[in-house]
Amino acid sequence: MDRFLIKGGKKLKGTVHISGSKNAALPILVATLLTDEPCVLHRVPNLRDVRTTLKMLEYLGKKVEYRDNTVTITANGSLKNTLPYELVKQMRASFWVAGPLLTRFKEADIPLPGGCAIGVRPVDIHLKGFEKLGATCEVKSGNVRIHAEQLNPANIVLRFPSVGATQNLLMCACLIEGNTILDNIAKEPEVDDVIDFLNKMGADVQKDEKGRLIIHGKNTLHGAEHTVVADRIETGSFLLAAAATRGDVCVKDCVPEHNSILLDDLREAGFALTVTDSSVHVHPYNGEIKPVRIRTAPYPGFATDLQAPWMTLMTLCNGTAEVDEDIFENRFMHAPELVRMGADISTEKSVARITGVPSLSAAHVQASDLRGGFALVMAGLCASGETEVERVYHIDRGYEQLEQKLTALGADIRRYNPDKDAF
Ligand code: EPZ
Repeated sequence: MDRFLIKGGKKLKGTVHISGSKNAALPILVATLLTDEPCVLHRVPNLRDVRTTLKMLEYLGKKVEYRDNTVTITANGSLKNTLPYELVKQMRASFWVAGPLLTRFKEADIPLPGGCAIGVRPVDIHLKGFEKLGATCEVKSGNVRIHAEQLNPANIVLRFPSVGATQNLLMCACLIEGNTILDNIAKEPEVDDVIDFLNKMGADVQKDEKGRLIIHGKNTLHGAEHTVVADRIETGSFLLAAAATRGDVCVKDCVPEHNSILLDDLREAGFALTVTDSSVHVHPYNGEIKPVRIRTAPYPGFATDLQAPWMTLMTLCNGTAEVDEDIFENRFMHAPELVRMGADISTEKSVARITGVPSLSAAHVQASDLRGGFALVMAGLCASGETEVERVYHIDRGYEQLEQKLTALGADIRRYNPDKDAF
């Protein structure tokens, strides 16, 4: 399996262009199941999770072409409405096919997505929503069979603004005649991008003055063309890597307002930023990194996906910072690996306390999840010596051409596979 070798101590300098959002591309690809007409999607990042989703769409019966970040999806005979465990276990977001398959075929037979390293990750909000729409959900030997004689519009209040449940129920309601209302929904920009794509397909999804989604269901949806929104998590990841290495980096083709709270926290930590409508420039800063407490929260709160990279920055702060991870129950697996690199971190339930150290030192570390893996790469960029990061496959799920983009910014990082590459 691939590893990264990183010779740290270099300040990142230059410009990096942000890719399309993984967490918008995945649900939008799934939404193409709602029509038999061709869909063309641009700025689809070339990531492991995207390739898994394309494989899943082909398994279900779609024809897929993918070239230069553009995906063309066309019908290729009738669709299946079951998925094999092999696919769902690779990527939880596969479960989001339930909504489109249920609404089109009144039946979907999908393996329950297991938990993952960061938490149990139940799907109760998804299933309760389907039941409100008139379906029954039978869980048996790791699968859930969701079926309905008739689906009806409903008023659904999500007990928690789950991103996946919002998108799954939204896609299902698009083909249910009448008005379905979704309340307490996720407000992440990726959800807005899915709504934008669905409306381009002829759906009628509006947000009312209370922020609820009003979905006026249609009989059919047609094909559409769409360009995926910029990846705000990749944006935040590069901003944090630039700051931690005391670099001078301009992050381009992004949507700064999607990272508002991060920009505020970086300024509070002492960094100077220049922001335009599509870029953020982190200026060189050699002063003290001030400790800043963060609490992760649903958007527009501090993104849980940026908690790990933020923690790496705080390992170098002047003082003690706290990180409250209030979204997932086990998202501190990067902490012990950072401690092995000389960081001073203690964790107690959902709170991590980080006391800054003058510098980190290289070590051989292991990634356990996507964003924790990026946090370790960041630490390697800052540490003196050569850091080896194992299980890069976690990182490949969500960062397109990471080592190429970092190398272009002056980092000394290379990918190697000990089973294949001779030293
Ligand atoms: C999406 O996951 C993202 N994934 C995650 O990004 C992101 O961390 C998460 O939203 C929160 O922003 C994709 O978009 C593909 P949730 P999702 O449902 O939809 C609990 C990354 O690194 N919950 O909003 O699965 C759940 O356990 C990934 O790119 C229930 O209890 O997240 C969690 O504690 C990681 N029951 C919280 O809600 C449910 O039915 C938030 O989960 C659903 C969720």
